[in-house]
Amino acid sequence: MLFQRVKPLDQILATAEKKSLKRQLGPIQLTLMGVGAIIGTGIFVLTAEAGQKAGPGMMIAFVIAAVVCALAALAYAELAGMIPVAGSAYTYTYGVLGEGLAWVVGWALILEYTIAASTVSVGWSGYVNGLLASAGYGLPEFLRTGPFDGGSFNLLAFLVALTVTVLLVFGTSKSAKVNAVLVSVKVAALIAFIIITVPAVHQSNFHPFLPNGWGSPLGGIGVLGAAASIFFAYVGFDAVSTAAEETKNPNRNIPIGLIGSLTVCTIFYLLVGYGAVGAAGSQPMLGADGLALQPGTPEMATACKGLHALVCSKEPLAFVLHALGSDKIGYLVGAAASIALPSVILMMIYGQTRIFFTMSRDGLLPNRLSTVHPRFHTPHVLTMITGTFVSLFAAIFPVGLLADITNSGTLFAFMMVAIGVMILRKKQPERPRPFRTPLAWIVCPLAVVGCLLLFVNLSKTAISVFFIWAAVGLVVYYLYGFRKSHLANGTEPS
Ligand code: ALA
Repeated sequence: MLFQRVKPLDQILATAEKKSLKRQLGPIQLTLMGVGAIIGTGIFVLTAEAGQKAGPGMMIAFVIAAVVCALAALAYAELAGMIPVAGSAYTYTYGVLGEGLAWVVGWALILEYTIAASTVSVGWSGYVNGLLASAGYGLPEFLRTGPFDGGSFNLLAFLVALTVTVLLVFGTSKSAKVNAVLVSVKVAALIAFIIITVPAVHQSNFHPFLPNGWGSPLGGIGVLGAAASIFFAYVGFDAVSTAAEETKNPNRNIPIGLIGSLTVCTIFYLLVGYGAVGAAGSQPMLGADGLALQPGTPEMATACKGLHALVCSKEPLAFVLHALGSDKIGYLVGAAASIALPSVILMMIYGQTRIFFTMSRDGLLPNRLSTVHPRFHTPHVLTMITGTFVSLFAAIFPVGLLADITNSGTLFAFMMVAIGVMILRKKQPERPRPFRTPLAWIVCPLAVVGCLLLFVNLSKTAISVFFIWAAVGLVVYYLYGFRKSHLANGTEPS
């Protein structure tokens, strides 16, 4: 039943033509949008997590995750160019593998976008809490982190997600301009970090290089465990494709936005990773059994109490700069993260609402949800619902777990996209492809294998959450979307 109801691609394109978001974004705005969505908590915060899992070997983790993303981006760009409509992997799957699987992908994308927004909110709170504490206005301990991470309620993470939601209700174009400024701020912070740390690198900090080895499936530790987590740092480039219906000349501009933003970010990450490890060291905290502790657990929180170590820091880039004695720049980088990370939250909630919008336009979610606000021209109901969940998750869960859950949904969606490219090449070889995945029959299978490899190296909890979430999704589909589907009922809105 999952493979029935393939929506003809021409029909997908026609539905999108009929409606209503204004085409106003060009290639530079899209690349900025990609960089805005990509650089965030991953590099600013999860560097500590990756260091705990892999030690200096996290450098390899950055490379592995980048390679998997690049392979997936090449596949994404082909489908995004061919099917330049909102909904990204959800829409592509609808047009290739059918409604049931498309629903599962859309459902997995909720993990990607909603949970990513929560992850970044938690990452942001680490930097702001650090700045407030150093200015003497620190919040009480129980309001700094959620209950799994030594506190009770992460107040700042909760508030930032709510604020971004309100911004989005008021309108995209205003937000996109703000986004461009914020992107410059965080890029400037990373450049400053690189300039200060790279000359301070000590080769001795790279030994031992792989204290936890490569790791094994379901272990969530070692280089592969770190790669599976740090993959989060690259999540978001596909947000570019969710804006396809608001893009001028999408066939050309979407692939430029996708691949351009990914390339820029990868270069930054490798330099920042090298500077952080080389200047401050990143050997993992060990438990009583001599094995590395899992980050984001009460044991790790206890082991880190009172210690100054990169792997313990909630604001690792600022930590490295303070350790080098560059306090002023450390505060500035902290301030830059605090100012700029909300743009990532914004992109994630934005991407989520556009995917929901598409799903409800297809009849798989109630139509009322996709109401566009008469004055602000935004899907305000969807935005507010999404924002509420983002805020609550951010208040409660630790950053590493949220990141791993995000990655589980994202890796699944990427895998489906790579499979979709191969199926369409076989089924519709003559359809115009403004961008063709180079060496598709090597790149796409490698993308699938890469996604699977990272998926099985996520933490056990994240993998379980993924499967439970998918099962719940299938029940929801058979109870609602299966019956209400516009494709099945011939009730496509005109
Ligand atoms: N890649 C984005 C980040 O690291 C989601 O925050």
